[in-house]
Amino acid sequence: MKAIVAESAAASGPDRAPRPLPLREIELPLPELRPHDLLVRVEAVAVNPVDTKVRAGLAAGVPPRVLGWDAAGCVEAVGAAVSRFKPGDAVMAAGDITRPGCHAQWLAVDERITGRRPKGASWAEAAALPLTGLTAWEALFERLGLDADGGDAGRSLLILGGAGGVGSLAIQLARHAGLLVLATASRPESAAWVRELGADHVLDHSRDLAPQLAELGLDTVDRIANFADTDAYWDVMAELIRPQGAIVAIVGNREPLDLDRLKSKSASFHWEFMFTRSRYGTPDLARQGEILERLADRIEAGELRSTLHTQLGAITATNLERAHALVASGRSIGKIVLQGWGEPVGADGG
Ligand SMILES: NC(=O)c1ccc[n+]([C@@H]2O[C@H](COP(=O)([O-])OP(=O)(O)OC[C@H]3O[C@@H](n4cnc5c(N)ncnc54)[C@H](OP(=O)(O)O)[C@@H]3O)[C@@H](O)[C@H]2O)c1
Repeated sequence: MKAIVAESAAASGPDRAPRPLPLREIELPLPELRPHDLLVRVEAVAVNPVDTKVRAGLAAGVPPRVLGWDAAGCVEAVGAAVSRFKPGDAVMAAGDITRPGCHAQWLAVDERITGRRPKGASWAEAAALPLTGLTAWEALFERLGLDADGGDAGRSLLILGGAGGVGSLAIQLARHAGLLVLATASRPESAAWVRELGADHVLDHSRDLAPQLAELGLDTVDRIANFADTDAYWDVMAELIRPQGAIVAIVGNREPLDLDRLKSKSASFHWEFMFTRSRYGTPDLARQGEILERLADRIEAGELRSTLHTQLGAITATNLERAHALVASGRSIGKIVLQGWGEPVGADGG
């Protein structure tokens, strides 16, 4: 099968700093199926910051790695223990960071972390959903413990990084849960996107947030979801969180965090890592399949829209390089998706 791989970084340049080697297309054998696996013919993929981070971290001498953890495609074969899907089913999955990714014509993925492609969604729209959908859902409704169906209506949620892939889904989920959604965006086009997705108020993260909240009559918020930079916002979050409030972050810290900043407010801090369940094979692994099904229900009911924003053509090394550059700029909006392998698109795919 055709696969696009990244190899270890090469020391180059006058500073001898590692530079990622170009992505390249190679032939690989079809993946072998484990008992719970689906063999999926990949139709479309979305690109995430994790792709560029894994690529940048490849150690010298390691074998080439297939990146990509966001895909939609068609089930072609199933492992012996599979019960939820059958050949011919259209599915979407983020997969497992410890296994080869989806930048290949065929993906082996555990059915327990897979969901159906929502009816009416194209391959590209479906590929945009799983990784960021799981992250946003787990962050809001599991780590922060908010009620997905309105039990916390009226509580305020500050979303740092509203226009990115995760923020774009979180805004919609939070809005549907009845929360007061305050989302940040720093440019006219990202602010417009955030507003369109349903944010009640847009704050500009290139300026101080406290005065902007004060203008809205708020000095603190009930919950904070940090989808941008944990270190940079640590003090701001400690200042803006309400006493007994809760904060979730999804980006690892570079410096030690001063947890004591939260003590006097009895505020809690939570990590969300979308790959925790698959990486550790937690007993509730299948919960991710259920979340994907709930996301599909909402898309089908018109309560959630795909956050597909930019399509960059077929799944080729050149187009993936363009997508990586856009992600690395930190200015992408919604999701970037690539579709097809340079051959004609199937009639069912849109
Ligand atoms: N833990 C997990 O499971 C998990 C899952 C997914 C992603 N992540 C990580 O979470 C981060 C966000 O992921 P993503 O897919 O949403 O990224 P993304 O789509 O690349 O985010 C791009 C957006 O970030 C915003 N942004 C840039 N700098 C910002 C800042 N200083 N403050 C607030 N917003 C800022 C930009 O908004 P403006 O253009 O308006 O400035 C831009 O629209 C990445 O570091 C990613 O690796 C973690």
